[in-house]
Amino acid sequence: MRASLKSTTTPSTLSCDTLVIPLYKDKKLSPASQEVDKASGKSISALLKGEDFSANLGEILTLPIVSGLSAKRIVLWGLGEKDKINRQLWSKACAALSSNTLNLKGSHCAIISDIKTNKSVPFNWALQQIALYFTRNSYLYCTTKASKKSDLSQLKKISVLNAENNKANQQSLKQGLAIGQGINIARELGNLPGNICTPKYLSGQARQLGRKYAAISTTVLGEKQMKELGMDSLLSVGNGSDQESQFMIMKYQGGKKSQQPQVIVGKGITFDSGGISLKPGAKMDEMKFDMCGAATVIGTVSAIAEMKLPINVIGVIASAENMPSGRATKPGDVINSMAGKTIEVLNTDAEGRLVLCDALHYVKRFKPAATIDIATLTGACIVALGHHATALLSTDDSLADELFSAGIDSTDRAWRLPIWDEFQKQIQSPFADLANLGGPAGGTITAACFLSHFTEGYRWAHLDIAGTAWNQAGAKGASGRPVAMLCQYLMAQAGKAAV
Ligand code: BES
Ligand code: MN
Ligand code: ZN
Repeated sequence: MRASLKSTTTPSTLSCDTLVIPLYKDKKLSPASQEVDKASGKSISALLKGEDFSANLGEILTLPIVSGLSAKRIVLWGLGEKDKINRQLWSKACAALSSNTLNLKGSHCAIISDIKTNKSVPFNWALQQIALYFTRNSYLYCTTKASKKSDLSQLKKISVLNAENNKANQQSLKQGLAIGQGINIARELGNLPGNICTPKYLSGQARQLGRKYAAISTTVLGEKQMKELGMDSLLSVGNGSDQESQFMIMKYQGGKKSQQPQVIVGKGITFDSGGISLKPGAKMDEMKFDMCGAATVIGTVSAIAEMKLPINVIGVIASAENMPSGRATKPGDVINSMAGKTIEVLNTDAEGRLVLCDALHYVKRFKPAATIDIATLTGACIVALGHHATALLSTDDSLADELFSAGIDSTDRAWRLPIWDEFQKQIQSPFADLANLGGPAGGTITAACFLSHFTEGYRWAHLDIAGTAWNQAGAKGASGRPVAMLCQYLMAQAGKAAV
C-alpha cells in the first residue's frame, strides 16, 4: 500500500477509482465535499435528504455512477455522532471504510479529509489510523492456499485530499503504513502452520530483518550456544522436539550508542502440545499461535526500523517446540536456569515461563531502559479478561502507566492485573527454588510472579496476549496485537507519537 497527500481545491476533477466522502450524522458536507456535490449537479446532497444513508459509525454506501466527476464511484463514509467521536470509534470507522473499499475494483482510492475531529482524536493520529487500517486490512492469508490469491485487493494507493502536504501529515501516513505492515508481518507469522513456522523458520525471519535494514543486526544462538550460557530452562522445553530451539537477538540502533535500549522479549513456542502434560485435543491446532509474542517482536522491530525511530530497541525471541517424547521433560523434573535458580517442572504445559525466564535473565547485559515481554502465557488470562484486553502486569508503576496509555492511544488496549507478594507462595516448591505452576487461582498473576524472579535490576512489564493474539470468531487468524500498542509506546519514547 502507498499513501500520499494531495492538496486540491477541486476533488471532483481527480481521477481515481473511489472517492470517499466522510459524513457525521448531521450529514453536513465539508467544503471539499460541497465542491464534489456541485460538480455532480447536487446529486449527493439530494441523496442525503432521503433515508438511504444515516451516517452511522462505520456505515458505508457505494454510489457506483455519479455524473460530473472524474472518480469512477463515490463512497459515503459514516462517522456517527460528531461529539461522540473518540479514538476507539475512529479506528472502527477506519476499519469499516478500508475493508469495504478494499473489496471494490480499482487501484486508487482518494479520501476527502477536511473534516473536523475533536480533541480526543488528534488530526495526525486520525491520518495515521487511515493509513494503518488500509494496510492492515489489505492482508489476506494465502501462503498455504492455492485458491485464495484472486481474492487479494486491487487497491494499491490511497490519497488523502485536502489535508496540508506538510512534514507532520506525511509522517503520520508513513507511520500508519509502517505499523500496519508490522501488524501484518506478525499476523502472517502467527497464521503459518507449525510444520512451516518452526524455531529455525523464526530465526530465519529474524536474520532477514538484519539483512533488510542497515540499522538492525541479528544474532542467533542454537542449542549448543544456549547450553554454554546455561539456558537449561529454555532448553528443557525443546527436549522432546525434533526441532532445534533457537534464541534470537535483533538490535536496532536508531539512537546514540550510549542510549539505553528498550528491550522487547517474545515467547516463541512454535507449537505447544503441552508436552508430557499433553493438552486435550479440542482446539489444539490453535497452539500454533503460541509464538505470537515472537511474531509481535518481529513485527514491532520491523515497524520501528521502517519509521526510523531515533531510539535503540532490542528484540529478543526465545523459541522452542513443546512436544512429548522419551526425551521430553517430565512432571517432577528439576531443571536449572541461567540465573542459577532451580525450577521444579510440575506441569510441562507451563512452558512459556520456562523459555522466558532465561531470556529475561539474558537481557540484563543490555542494561535496558525497560524490558517488556510479550507472551501467550496463560489460558487463565482469557478467563480473567476475555478477548478484548491484553493483560498488563508490572513491578514498575510508571512503566505500567506508560504501556496502559499506549494501549488507549493506539486502541490496542491492555488492562492491569496485580503482582503482589501474597501470590508468591503459590509457586514455592519443596524440591527447587521455584515451581513452574501456581495452581488454578490467579493463573495469569502467578505466571507473572514466576517471571518476576528473573527481572531484578531493571524496569519490567509483562503482556499476556493469550486472549488477544488471535481471533476465533469470524475470520479465524492472528490479530497482530499488540504490535500497535508497542509501536505507540516506542514512538512516545522517541517523542514521535502522532498528536
Ligand atoms: N500457551 C498456553 C496458554 C494458552 C492457552 C494461550 C490457551 C492461549 C489459549 C500455555 O503454554 C499453557 O499451556 N498454559 C497453561 C498453564 C498452566 C499449566 C499453569 C494453561 O493456561 O493452562
Ligand atoms: Mn503450554
Ligand atoms: Zn504455551
